[in-house]
Amino acid sequence: MNETIKTILTRKSIRSYKEEQISDSDLELLIDAGIHAPTGGNSQSWNFTVIQNKEKLLELNRLVKESFAELIVDENTYRSKRAGKISSQQETYSFYYNAPTLILVSNAREYSNAMADCSAAIENIMLAGKSLGLGSCWINQLTWFCDEEKVRATLTHYGIPENYIVCGGVALGYCASNTDKLVPRKKADVNIIR
Ligand SMILES: Cc1cc2nc3c(=O)[nH]c(=O)nc-3n(C[C@H](O)[C@H](O)[C@H](O)COP(=O)(O)O)c2cc1C
Repeated sequence: MNETIKTILTRKSIRSYKEEQISDSDLELLIDAGIHAPTGGNSQSWNFTVIQNKEKLLELNRLVKESFAELIVDENTYRSKRAGKISSQQETYSFYYNAPTLILVSNAREYSNAMADCSAAIENIMLAGKSLGLGSCWINQLTWFCDEEKVRATLTHYGIPENYIVCGGVALGYCASNTDKLVPRKKADVNIIR
């Protein structure tokens, strides 16, 4: 099996990180991997916001906790959002799993490929991370809450344009434990028409 396929097949979401920060050279490679993802019409209109400041990450965590507290859920609410509301009430809650680096990938709200382009970039970043010995996890909370007033004010302060939405985030760092397991895949429906 070649290294690329091995990287793809062994990547898994990591939810426990060491405090040690990733190197600037690795960060540069990760962003480079991100921007080498394909984009609709070669748009490349994405914005990458890298947050490595512990205080700023904790401030975002506080805002996410507040947003969950105000969120009204019912049985029709997306399962992960309902679960997030419950876990956010814990003292130790960290939506980015205390990872030392959080990358937010945002794009123009009105651009129809915003989510697709950013998702391709995020996957590239996660796979590049895996190849560099880093763990990662997709982080969705700021996609849900980027338009909450206080969250938006903070994101604006971090340079995300007002007309951009957070399409996704990635937590990155060195894995703290080996407890995150490869999640088995369901058999996909594949129809090959020849
Ligand atoms: C769009 C999207 C949003 C996700 N959001 C979160 C999240 O907010 N927090 C989290 O822990 N995992 C999140 N995940 C990771 C999934 O839970 C994970 O990919 C899935 O359980 C399969 O596990 P694996 O990544 O280890 O293969 C997200 C994944 C995707 C694609």
